[in-house]
Amino acid sequence: MGLSIHSLRKLKERAQPIVALTATEYAIAHVLDQAGVDLLLVGDSLSMVALGYTSTLPVTVDELLHHCRAVRRGVERALLVADLPFGSYEQSPQQAFSTATRFLKETGVQAVKLEGGYPRMVETVAFLTESGIPVLGHLGLTPQAVHQLGGYRVQGKTAQAAERLLDQALALAGAGAFAVVLEHIPHDLAGEMSGTLLIPTIGIGAGPHCDGQILVTHDLLGLTEKPPLFVKPYADLRALIAEAVGRYGADVRAHRSFEER
Ligand code: KIV
Repeated sequence: MGLSIHSLRKLKERAQPIVALTATEYAIAHVLDQAGVDLLLVGDSLSMVALGYTSTLPVTVDELLHHCRAVRRGVERALLVADLPFGSYEQSPQQAFSTATRFLKETGVQAVKLEGGYPRMVETVAFLTESGIPVLGHLGLTPQAVHQLGGYRVQGKTAQAAERLLDQALALAGAGAFAVVLEHIPHDLAGEMSGTLLIPTIGIGAGPHCDGQILVTHDLLGLTEKPPLFVKPYADLRALIAEAVGRYGADVRAHRSFEER
């Protein structure tokens, strides 16, 4: 039986950290799921890491739906969540509902993630959760608002901004969000928010005191040319792939057999 939004709440209650990663396609999603990742997010970061765009803004609903369907086929255990892309949910709760239902009906993901807090997104989260659609919130550095924020900067640095972030997280939880991603905020603030909220916090660049952690899998595995500074690389797949392809190329060019083991 796979994990549900309630499983994540139980992990928080038992003080067991939640392991989350992004997934973009079938084969790697299958490996991540078999390796015991609790939550897999088909994030709009795939706009950059899988599609080669320079931000999360261009990726479309149809592109994300396509990736969600592939990932779904590789995942049995992890809770599967899809990002709602920029422009597909901000206009009204009804617009968010139409987009979110496409993700649940057409791909089999179990929940959606959207960026932002009050007042508008709190209303939208309430509308979706009351309609039976689980929502993962996302506060702090919200990459879809990069131009409004003036870059990919740490958020919540002043006392006022920190208080506002905590209020927003409480409002999202009150509206029914099952968990909230905290991106690029001061570590002590993330710890304070995690201690105050009853729902799990999932940090990215927010320090070790969150209830769980998420990273972009391409960054973790060393597939991204320039990963964010807060990412500790756990593998160097760019080098590994280049080396393997180099050896294959050398065999081919030397007419050596590469078919036998
Ligand atoms: O799109 C994404 O990958 C995200 C992160 C939280 C990892 O939103």
